[in-house]
Amino acid sequence: MSEKAKLILEGKEYELPVVIGTENEKAIDISKLLETTGYITLDTGFKNTGSTKSAITFLDGDNGILWYRGYPIEQLSEYASFLEVAYLVIYGELPTQKELDYFQRSISHHTLVHEDMKRFYEAYPTGAHPMGVLSSMIASMSTFYPESQNPNRPFKDIELTMHRLIAKMATLAAQANKVSVGHPIMYPKNSYSYTQNFLHMMFALPTADYEIDPVVDDALNKLLILHADHEQNCSTSTVRIVGSSQSNLYSSISAGIAALWGPLHGGANQAVIEMLERIKNDGGDVQKWVDKAKDKNDSFRLMGFGHRVYKNFDPRAKIIKKACDDVLNRLGIHDPVLDIAKQLEEVALKDPYFIERKLYPNVDFYSGIIYRAIGIPTEMFTVMFALGRLPGWIAQWKEMIEHGEPIGRPRQVYTGSTKRDYVPIPKRG
Ligand code: CMC
Repeated sequence: MSEKAKLILEGKEYELPVVIGTENEKAIDISKLLETTGYITLDTGFKNTGSTKSAITFLDGDNGILWYRGYPIEQLSEYASFLEVAYLVIYGELPTQKELDYFQRSISHHTLVHEDMKRFYEAYPTGAHPMGVLSSMIASMSTFYPESQNPNRPFKDIELTMHRLIAKMATLAAQANKVSVGHPIMYPKNSYSYTQNFLHMMFALPTADYEIDPVVDDALNKLLILHADHEQNCSTSTVRIVGSSQSNLYSSISAGIAALWGPLHGGANQAVIEMLERIKNDGGDVQKWVDKAKDKNDSFRLMGFGHRVYKNFDPRAKIIKKACDDVLNRLGIHDPVLDIAKQLEEVALKDPYFIERKLYPNVDFYSGIIYRAIGIPTEMFTVMFALGRLPGWIAQWKEMIEHGEPIGRPRQVYTGSTKRDYVPIPKRG
């Protein structure tokens, strides 16, 4: 017999179905609650609310587990390429060699961005944040490909949009960086792999090639894989909810980029480096900043610490910490900010405040130090997160469309004034 939950309201008993996932995750299905009881549920921040059933990513926060389509990220980040993982996340299975060749060829084929889009860069003010630029450039792509407007077109057409996005986002991200430093844009080189091409577009100059270090290439590949999906987080939920109105894929992804930008989400990687710099410039007294983070009258938080779901450790952070050491050793860089990061981690992890609240370094804590060592400017860090997360956003959007999910439209409990009559200005006192 399948399990049921019982709910008693105003003396009446209701039975609610229970849904159990493949890894024994349990949920009470309340989809008919309003219809049958007249009640809604209230859960700000969706801390206890499942918004969908999804077969893409499994995450066990208590045990620090993260799988894409059943494959542990430890294995994927060690052995696979980013495009292989992107294929897995979007299509549901690891590609055969033939499928991967086709996918890679298609992505290489679409790396060029329409020349008219270059003119947009002239309109952004100097110092424009690249996340703002990227979000609007991606939204603008829908105007260049108007046939993409209808998400219910045959899959071949939708697939073209997906491939264009993966190919062109790397180009747009690198171009945004070139424009911000006042250098000429570098065109993609299709003989390169996805990560090599990105490094080339970021760092080569018309006057000098960029020599790609395999350790740097490998670290970038790992970082992108580790960001590829993370189930129903803020930006992914945004992508799904925007897409649920049948808005096109470009605008849904653009909205996801905007949601990712915030410092409580993807913007944390930029915020971490800024925090570490601040601590260093303040004399490096790590304990002082840990105390500030604990002080409820101080708005300061330890950026790169804590997670809504991980309550033991973030498995991505573990892999990134090791990659960080590899890159710095290989490049012979001694970054004092890394010393501060390690001290901060050590002090915080012994502190009862962080232990009781289960606050551990998350994915953003060490990733910025690698980006910095590679030469990526601080303001580009969250763009790197977006580049990695793109396959996940696409897969989640695709799943939502394939499931025919209804438009996302939460309810509320109204707490405003009861009905009152309009009073003309002279009589308002
Ligand atoms: N520093 C100090 N205290 C913290 C921190 C922190 N980084 N994070 C949480 N807390 C405290 C918080 O004040 C609260 O304490 P109390 O119970 O006494 O009120 C308790 O821990 C629970 O925190 P919360 O804000 O209710 O937890 P949440 O699940 O709503 O927020 C979070 C999760 C990630 C937004 C939060 O931990 C945070 O702001 N961290 C810093 C920003 C950050 O690193 N974000 C990146 C997340 S990982 C990348 C991604 O996938 O987005």
